[in-house]
Amino acid sequence: MTSRFTLDRRLPEHHLADSLRADVLAGLTAPPRTLPPKWFYDARGSKLFDEITRLPEYYPTRAEREILRLRAADVAELTGARTLVELGSGSSDKTRLLIDALLRRGTLESYAPVDVSESALSAAGEALCHEYPGLRIAATVADFGDRLRLSAGPGPRLVAFLGGTLGNLDTAERTVFHERLRSCLGAGDALLLGADLVKDEDVLVRAYNDAQGITAEFNKNVLRVLNRELGADFDPGSFDHLAVWNRGEERIEMRLRSRTEHTVTLPALDVKIPLARGEEVRTEISVKFRRAGLTDELRRHGFAVTRWWTDARERFALLLAVPR
Ligand code: AVJ
Repeated sequence: MTSRFTLDRRLPEHHLADSLRADVLAGLTAPPRTLPPKWFYDARGSKLFDEITRLPEYYPTRAEREILRLRAADVAELTGARTLVELGSGSSDKTRLLIDALLRRGTLESYAPVDVSESALSAAGEALCHEYPGLRIAATVADFGDRLRLSAGPGPRLVAFLGGTLGNLDTAERTVFHERLRSCLGAGDALLLGADLVKDEDVLVRAYNDAQGITAEFNKNVLRVLNRELGADFDPGSFDHLAVWNRGEERIEMRLRSRTEHTVTLPALDVKIPLARGEEVRTEISVKFRRAGLTDELRRHGFAVTRWWTDARERFALLLAVPR
């Protein structure tokens, strides 16, 4: 590893363990029972998610890559970014299209990926370090849902939030997110946001309930994380995977439904959770957006949408927004 790659652990030593305990306690003890989706992504969950992105039914990754291939040069031209910040960077796979375009434009000096997964950050960071000998890579282990402290880096800065992950946040959480992000940005900076769009219900449900059952395994993986990290005794086989289109909220909800009446013990939290037969735990929301609604939401929080691009089939949008 060379000194062009730095990894900053912004999270205090026990932050992840503490926030997992707090999340699980709050989520499982009050109705409706929920678990936050960020806990899917241990090493196994991250691998399952990578498999999801290659499934025939899961269109968002391919649609977003299609847009990036066509528009990355425009993004580079319009932003002239010297620093590229990426929230929830994961494997940084699609990001290479942006890095390539910004390097070709001649402005990019540093890439600052932010992710909760230290293993994903160090793997992606070291690979990128070799692929791009001129680039400074300053990775930060942090939760984009917490207070953002975007590494200073030279401006103009481009903050990329790709993959449709904004959809994991409900309306109130998005308000907090937009406001925090907006307060980090100044004149000349920009936001590049990937958003999945409202579409035919069957297409949406299939994307979250694939024929091979990979998404079901991904969903149940959160139970394995709780078993390992909190000593819980979930039996993943006792739950059914559900992907439900919530028409009123225009979001996909992933749930785990208990096949039997039973009690789960979580020793690390000193609680027992009684589950009725058929009782559901909601593990993820994935909000789907419309152009007018998302543009308005961003405007209300201090952003002006200056470009809106979609794939040819208008399944997914990539938008550029600037402080207004
Ligand atoms: C990574 C949050 C964008 O909501 O589509 C994929 C996660 N969950 N299949 C999404 C996910 C089930 C994904 N995001």
